[in-house]
Amino acid sequence: MMFFSACVGVASTIVLFVSPAFAADKTIDPQLVAKLITAATMRDRLDLLSDDQLLYNFSANPMYSWKPGSVCNANAATWPILSTIGVSVAQLNLGPCAMLAPHLHRANNLVVSVTGTTHTYMVQENGARLVEQMLSPGMMTIFPLASVHSMYNMGKLHVVAAGPLVADIAKGCENNQLYSFLDDKDPGTTTLAQTFFLMPEEIGMQVMPFINLTNGDWNATAQLIPAIGNGSQDGFEACRRKCGLA
Ligand SMILES: *[C@@H]1O[C@H](CO)[C@@H](O)[C@H](O)[C@H]1NC(C)=O
Ligand SMILES: *[C@@H]1O[C@H](CO)[C@@H](O)[C@H](O)[C@H]1NC(C)=O
Ligand SMILES: *[C@@H]1O[C@H](CO)[C@@H](O)[C@H](O)[C@H]1NC(C)=O
Ligand SMILES: *[C@@H]1O[C@H](CO)[C@@H](O)[C@H](O)[C@H]1NC(C)=O
Repeated sequence: MMFFSACVGVASTIVLFVSPAFAADKTIDPQLVAKLITAATMRDRLDLLSDDQLLYNFSANPMYSWKPGSVCNANAATWPILSTIGVSVAQLNLGPCAMLAPHLHRANNLVVSVTGTTHTYMVQENGARLVEQMLSPGMMTIFPLASVHSMYNMGKLHVVAAGPLVADIAKGCENNQLYSFLDDKDPGTTTLAQTFFLMPEEIGMQVMPFINLTNGDWNATAQLIPAIGNGSQDGFEACRRKCGLA
């Protein structure tokens, strides 16, 4: 899915100055995308593409990482063929306790767990209840269009090294992998905390009057929101402690 996608313009330049870094997909081949979009038929498009260009390797996505985690998007920006088809897929790689901050998309979103157990949270709209799921391998959940959702790797313990004694066991937590399917080639991602702080201070402080601003400065306070480098960020301390990470 995620984070600001292909259209990087004036607006997102401002974003980079006043709020923490987002993972942003770069459009890898705008000329090819232009040709694919203007081609009349799918057969014409296939004539513009080699067999290799019809294969997507998530491990080669520039975001691919496990510390703390990543969201690797196959979308109109990263895989040119998708510029003409209304779908995209993200590979979610969550290291132990890694989380995706509350966010939403311009698309319906189905998420399937492949490994590990992932706790998900979803609120569709004002007045809707909080839906929580424990997504284990082979299970799928839905985040309908514009629902706010979040998730984290629950940090299932496993033996990472065992010595001769029963007590001589080192435990760690496993990596979780999921796939996220979206019914748009450019679903975008809007992360709530970061976008909230792009509103003027006067507005924001009326909504959350209890915020203790850093040096009384709204923009400086926004800078304290942890960066979402590759789409995922560190999880909370209790989980990280359990996994031997904090
Ligand atoms: C996918 O990309 C990774 C990372 O670049 C590479 O190591 C791997 O060989 C690629 N897989 C295939 C099947 O090309
Ligand atoms: C606000 O933050 C400052 C600096 O960290 C601290 O000294 C002060 O006690 C805080 N005030 C409240 C009301 O939490
Ligand atoms: C905070 O950032 C906004 C948006 O860039 C800007 O208009 C405003 O002047 C900044 N405020 C301060 C106090 O720096
Ligand atoms: C993002 O992933 C790249 C490629 O794996 C890696 O070099 C980089 O350190 C990662 N950045 C963060 C903030 O995790």
